[in-house]
Order: sequence, then C-alpha cells, then structure tokens
Amino acid sequence: MEAHIIRKKFLEYFGAHGHAIVPSSSLIPDDPSVLLTTAGMQQFKKYYTGEADPYTTIHPLLRAPLGHPNAVSVQKSFRTSDIDEVGDETHLTFFQMLGNFSFGGYFKKEAIAMAHEFMTKTLGLEISYVTIFRGNDQVPKDEESRMLWNAHGVTDIREEGVEDVFWGPTGTSGPCGPTTEIYCKNGRGNDVEIWNIVFNEFFFPGSREELLSGASGKKLERMQTPGVDTGMGLERLSMIAQKTGTIFETDLFAPFIELLPVELSDRQKCIIIDHVRAAAFLLADGVRPSNKGAGYILRRLIRRASVYEHLNNIPVHVFDAILHDIVHEYGEFYSELLCENEAIRTEFLAERKKFGNTMTQGIKAFSAIALARENGAHGESLSGEEAFNLYQSFGFPREVMRDLCRDNSIAFDDAGFEEAVKHHQEISRAGQEKKFGGHGLLLDTGELKAADERELAIVTRLHTATHLLHAALRKVLGLDVRQDGSDITVERTRFDFTFPRKMTPEEIAEVERLVNGAIAGDFQVTKKDMAYEDALRSGALHFFKEKYPAEVHVYTIADPKSGEVFSKEFCGGPHVAHTGEIGAFRIAKEESSSAGVRRIRGVVSGS
Ligand code: SER
Repeated sequence: MEAHIIRKKFLEYFGAHGHAIVPSSSLIPDDPSVLLTTAGMQQFKKYYTGEADPYTTIHPLLRAPLGHPNAVSVQKSFRTSDIDEVGDETHLTFFQMLGNFSFGGYFKKEAIAMAHEFMTKTLGLEISYVTIFRGNDQVPKDEESRMLWNAHGVTDIREEGVEDVFWGPTGTSGPCGPTTEIYCKNGRGNDVEIWNIVFNEFFFPGSREELLSGASGKKLERMQTPGVDTGMGLERLSMIAQKTGTIFETDLFAPFIELLPVELSDRQKCIIIDHVRAAAFLLADGVRPSNKGAGYILRRLIRRASVYEHLNNIPVHVFDAILHDIVHEYGEFYSELLCENEAIRTEFLAERKKFGNTMTQGIKAFSAIALARENGAHGESLSGEEAFNLYQSFGFPREVMRDLCRDNSIAFDDAGFEEAVKHHQEISRAGQEKKFGGHGLLLDTGELKAADERELAIVTRLHTATHLLHAALRKVLGLDVRQDGSDITVERTRFDFTFPRKMTPEEIAEVERLVNGAIAGDFQVTKKDMAYEDALRSGALHFFKEKYPAEVHVYTIADPKSGEVFSKEFCGGPHVAHTGEIGAFRIAKEESSSAGVRRIRGVVSGS
C-alpha cells in the first residue's frame, strides 16, 4: 500500500470517527521553549492545559459522537535527537507524524479500540506486541490498557518503565502521561515501534529531564482536560505496510535514493536524502542557515550532505534534481514547499557554496590528521582540541567529524570535544564581559540574548523599553500587575505578567501611549547599587521568582524636568542612558501565557 494511500486512510478513518482534520502546524513552534516541532500534540498543548477552548478554535462545525472535539493530523516533525541514528532501519530527522487527539473526550477504551481496528482491519496489518506502563511511585501500573488489549485478542503485552512508556512533557513544562505502544514486524522480521498512544492525564511543571531525574522535587499534577495524544510515523508505518527492511526502501524515499550514484554506501545515501528532505521542509517554513537555534540545525544538515557530495564527487546537478523532486512530490500535501520552491533551492545552494571553500580545506586538514594516525602518531582518537579546530576554523558540525572518523576508523572523542567547546566558550564569555564593562552581561543571560554588539545595542533598548512597559502596565491595569517572566531577543521583548483577562484595545493603546510618552520625554536612566533590604524598602519592583544577592542594582527611570519617577526596578542591566535612545515602541501581540498570566510581545524601531 502506497504511503499516500495510508495517509488518506488514516485521515478518513479518524474523520469518520468524529475527528476534525487539522492541517500540520509549522516546524517552528509557538512555544519558545522548544526549538522545533517534535510531535503532533504541540499545536494542541493549550487545549489540554485549558488555556484555549478546542470547540471554538479547532473546527466549529465538527463534533465527536460524545459531544467533545477531537482532532486528527499529519504533523511535520523534526527530532535532532535522532540525527546520529539516521541510516539505520527506522530513524530520521524529519518525519511525518500521523496522530489522533482527544481533549477531554474519549480516553483509553476508545483510543485502543480505534488503534486496533485501524491497524488490523483498515490496513490489515498484524500487531506483534504492545507495551504498557509498569507504574512507579507516582503513577500506578496501567492495568486498564492491559485489559483492553486482551479484550481485542492481543496477548503479548510487555511492561516498560517511565523512560520508554511515559511521554512528555515537551519544552519547559506541559502535558504528559503513560503510554501504550504498538510494535509490528518489518520486512526483515524485526519488531519496530509503530504507534505511541499517550494518555495525557498529567501536567508536569518542569522539563522531561527534571521529570526523569526527580531531583527538582516537582510533582505531577492532574490535568484539567485529560485526553489522548497519539503519534505514528508515516515512514515507519509505510515500511510495515510495504514489508520493506528499512524506511528508506519505501516509496517515500526510494525514488530519491535512485537519483544518487550507486557507488555511495547505503548509509551515505540515507543520510543525504534524509538531510536534504529535512532541509527543504525547514526552508519552506522560513528557517534560514545561521549559527543559532533552528538555523544552526539547518546549516548542519546542509553541510553534512555537502561533505558526502564532495567526498563522493557527486555531480553538481544531482542535489538540484533531488530538491526539485522532493518539492514536487511532497508539494501535493505541503503547499508551502511549492510556494517557497525558489527560496528553498537558492538558500540551499547558497549555504553549500558558502561552505564549499572551507570544507575543502577542512577535509584536507582532516586527511592530514588521518594520515598521521595511520603512521601511529597522537594516539588513536581525534582529540577534543583537533575536533574543536575543525569545528571552529572550517565550520564542521559534530556529526560531520563523526562521519569522517567513522569512515577512517578513527575514534571520535565526544567528551573531549564538548570540553574543548566549553573551554573556548568560557574564554570568549570572559572577553565579552570585559568588553561590556563587567555588567555581568552574558551573551545569554536567560533574560537577554545578543550574539554581537549590533544585537547588544538592540536588546539593550528593548530591555529599557521592558521596564517602561512594566511600569505602564501597572499604571493602566493596576498595582496587582507583577512580572511573571521576561525574555528579550533581537527581534522583540516578551513580557509575562499577572493579570486575569485579555487587555482591551483601549488599554493596549494607553500602555503604548505612556511608554512612547516616556521615550519622547527622553527620561534619564540611573543605576544605584543598594543593599537588598534597602532596595526592597525603596519600593523598587523586583521579580519574585528571582533569588537576589545581598547587594543589588536598582535602575530608576525618571523625568529630569519634574523629577517624577516613572519606573524603579531591581535589575542586572544593561540599559540605555536616556529613554530617547529606544525609538518608537509598539505592542505587537497580547495573549494568554498560562492561567492568570498574560504575555506581551513588544518591539522597538529596528528590532
Ligand atoms: N506525543 C507522542 C509522541 O510524540 C505521541 O504523539 O510520540
């Protein structure tokens, strides 16, 4: 059965069972604590937590049989965590996730019944075995799922722990819960995890790492709207349905693999096709190669594919042909590929070209190292410093160095490389602190993020604007408004504050008017070092979530003519000296952040 038929059958099946068919969201998520979309549930996170109402937001016309809204989607997903596994039977960076979702509607019984029917009846596949959660100190064993699977005639039911069958949360907090997974045999007779059915019963107020380590002391909370979140890679399912040995032999990849010269190893072919496909999708969603965040992930994909292209002397038109075919094959389902066709190809080629010169030199440098190893010099592995040099001087991402080492039977010293990166970051950070007058400013303070001096100038203006915004919100909405979080990047300031409802357009306009008034008055910004207790007594605003040292800085913004204080806050800085430097301020967005907390995104001219 072809992949596009499987996709259609999935949407049809759940559509017929009361699910609204929802388009894939972008690979760039709304949630700023997550770099890329890794799962289908991310666009629905707010429906589980109760921040948004799925009735009004998903699809006003469709209702599930029980009167609850449900959704089904094929979500574009990306997992960097799997990048080193690409080339085996089942792993990819970019994949398409089939998923059905219930928000306070159906639960275990219906979810398992539908999954079973879809796999065994609609697709006619055999389930090899399923897993259930074995329980831990906070959550009991999932006996209900065992019973339900048994009732469907599935008898091989295996118990697993929290690492494998307890999903989530994504980002810094979110829905999570025990899961039951379906395994099927691929064309080689190997069992492959196909479908992850999550019972989102809990909310965890921390990251998955915190959940697994237990060290934070944070506890699972019962969620307002428990529901179901399932995820099944279309690529893996196609492998099962088409009885192939790997995902790359399915019709989702085979036509592109054929465009590559036969001499390449299977692993190289898979990596190239996976990376080029993933890059095309990232570019279509507006990601551009850079040294940070999602842009750096994209850069790594293009560079790794380019190294293999270079090492194997692949004719230059081949990548072009692959990109062309990917855009047109997938464009049927993802129109953004067609719309961005031109940009995808230009950006891909530009990055490849940019990397071209340094890549050739880097490969020469690596060959010299490899040769020295053959002659028995310098121990066996590529040392952390050597790897850092290839990374720093020639722009080689880690996985490229790993590949090169692997192909030359040299060990790669992961820990050594990480140590070298850390060591050099510390040196450069110390340099930056010195350069900026020892403000304690870091390139990433958690609150402020700037990569260079140009960005630093912008985030500094946004930072002072944030103090003005905080003060203006209190003047307009009342003194119950308190800061709940803040994050400033070169594009915008994001300010969270306690307030129980949406702001009216008039209130937003009034806040903007006050901030711009303070800017037009060119108020003076002064800094004073004070003992913590004295600063508290002075009435300076402080952020209650923060732990302050004994000595703090207090920044005051006041009208030099009247002497009237507009804002006074504890803060590490840096700030502009006069508010006139900020330029025009605008509130770009006001929205809910979590219960009782609103979020404003503000911009200044040039940000
Ligand atoms: N969120 C779960 C996963 O990504 C199921 O969709 O596996």
